[in-house]
Amino acid sequence: AESQEDMLKEDKFLIIAHRGASGYAPEHTIESYKLAHEMGADYIEIDLQMTKDGQLVAMHDEKVNRTTNGKGYVKDYTLKELKKLDAGSWFNKKYPEHSNPKYADLTIPTLKEILETFGSKANYYIETKHPKDHPGMEKELIKLLGEYGLLNGDLSKGEVVIQSFSSDSLTNIHKLNKDIPLIQLQHLKKSKKVTKEDLAEIKTYAVGVGPKFSRMTKSYVKKVKEAGLFLHPYTVNEKEPAQSLQKMGANGVITNFADILEEKEEQ
Ligand code: G3P
Ligand code: CA
Repeated sequence: AESQEDMLKEDKFLIIAHRGASGYAPEHTIESYKLAHEMGADYIEIDLQMTKDGQLVAMHDEKVNRTTNGKGYVKDYTLKELKKLDAGSWFNKKYPEHSNPKYADLTIPTLKEILETFGSKANYYIETKHPKDHPGMEKELIKLLGEYGLLNGDLSKGEVVIQSFSSDSLTNIHKLNKDIPLIQLQHLKKSKKVTKEDLAEIKTYAVGVGPKFSRMTKSYVKKVKEAGLFLHPYTVNEKEPAQSLQKMGANGVITNFADILEEKEEQ
């Protein structure tokens, strides 16, 4: 963001707005990101997909079915076709308590539009997918970040963070640019216990890990801290676990509710 505040300090507790303020507005729309920004989120989280004509857009699923009125894979749509879809009415139907008629006009944003809208006012926490399924995603992302001036200055302060479940994707990025802070996401499936050695390997390219919060154990947290990695659990949607995670040494939470730590009036 503009002030170039150091976001990646051990004593900071970051609020990373998962798909924007997606608990209150349709995920991955400019409205959802704006709301998160207004709520004071430290980061807006962005999932990437690529269109048939090679444009990066913000969407979580590979298919448009859940969050638009269309059907099929993003990669089978040109950007022009994708832009015709309604990316907000599903939310009004699913969450009548948060519905708003203006959401029905929302479209799927391109990464360009997002960067144009927020420029250096926001911090970005961007997720890349597996290179096997999404070839060229990393290269295009780095290109756009460069075009929008987000690769100048001291990148270690974390104005842009890139996260992925795919270590291949992260190492691809690390080869293209050694200074962008990277976060290795981890499902923490029981069958794949994370060892000290795994974390040492992650540390060769990433500054931290983003574990699935509900599967974290005390011993995992201890190992992460001993490895000197940042800890950004996902997706934490209630105040109580968020506060205990902070006490346990987490460096932030990825949450659908950007106002998670605020005092709320009893309803
Ligand atoms: O930032 C972590 C989180 O976004 C990963 O899960 O499936 O919501 O992208 P997902
Ligand atoms: Ca994500």
